[in-house]
Amino acid sequence: MVSAVPRTLRYRDGVLHVLDQRLLPGEVRELRCQSASEVATAIRDMAVRGAPAIGVAGAYGVALAARAAARAGGDLDAVRAAAEDACGLLETARPTAVNLGAAVHRMRRQVLGSAAMSDAGELVDALEATAAELERYEVESSRAMGRLGADLLGHDARVLVHCNTGALATVERGTALAVVYEAHSRGTLDHVFVGETRPRLQGSRLTAFELAAAGVPHTVVVDSLAASLMLHRAVDAVLVGADRIAANGDVANKVGTYGLAVACAHHHVPFYVVAPTSSIDPVCESGAAIPIEERDPAEITDVGGERVLPPRSTAFNPAFDVTPASLVTALVTERGIVSPLSESSLAQLLAKRRAR
Ligand code: MRU
Repeated sequence: MVSAVPRTLRYRDGVLHVLDQRLLPGEVRELRCQSASEVATAIRDMAVRGAPAIGVAGAYGVALAARAAARAGGDLDAVRAAAEDACGLLETARPTAVNLGAAVHRMRRQVLGSAAMSDAGELVDALEATAAELERYEVESSRAMGRLGADLLGHDARVLVHCNTGALATVERGTALAVVYEAHSRGTLDHVFVGETRPRLQGSRLTAFELAAAGVPHTVVVDSLAASLMLHRAVDAVLVGADRIAANGDVANKVGTYGLAVACAHHHVPFYVVAPTSSIDPVCESGAAIPIEERDPAEITDVGGERVLPPRSTAFNPAFDVTPASLVTALVTERGIVSPLSESSLAQLLAKRRAR
């Protein structure tokens, strides 16, 4: 079952249509991005967000820059230069999700390998095809993760999810929420508790929007209720996504994830991370090396445009935290399930990927 939400990203004829997630659930409106800088702004300002989605958006941002340069009459060198500039701009738009840097890196490789191409049009076509391939891969991964993850859940499963890991965070279905959709369509899901996910409310605004559209029974709870729900045996499993998984299995995800993992360990509730292999960063040794994005404190100090803190109080706003691999019951990827999660089990999974 695919949730009935509008598609996050649509690339058509040199325009990237981006569903503006800042307006959801109140308003469904698309941004029309026609340049790499417009895409970078959409990523930075979180009109598009979620690790796989910003990776695909970044790739299309590079393709857009190339197409615009060709349209302006640029030759192969000019198009190559425009695409390289776009890579530099896009890869730094948000730092934590490795999917963005990895997707842009793939586009850069295409640019660097263009020396033998006959003209600018050939490079534009190749970049658009690579971005489309990345998009297709994320869609197929979502489906595979949904199936594998749903196998881990028992009957009448009551799960708790954090942030938004659904179609809005990817291109279709999602990561952790793909598991929810699959279990719902199999008839093995009882209920979903949705953590509201302060400060930007991806849970209450976006995940609830998706689940309501798909007819999945759910209840939104404040983030701080999670441990108590576990104490009262109301949750059978916690499902989260990942923005970057280090080589040793440490997982960076939306702030609050680590607290959920600790609570799961204490209450013997399985803690599942559901993420495509595009979220694994084999070059990053451990969680300590993962760059954590710090966002504007105004996301905490203000609610609905009104300051709620006393004038002299300050706020600290890291958008992600890191969960040690030892707290992860299993990692569900499109290539298979890794459990226990460790440097060697992750290396085995990646070796499987390279062998294909
Ligand atoms: O700041 P966001 O909304 O981009 O954070 C998103 C998350 O933390 C998700 O859990 C993560 O990207 C993985 S789900 C696709």
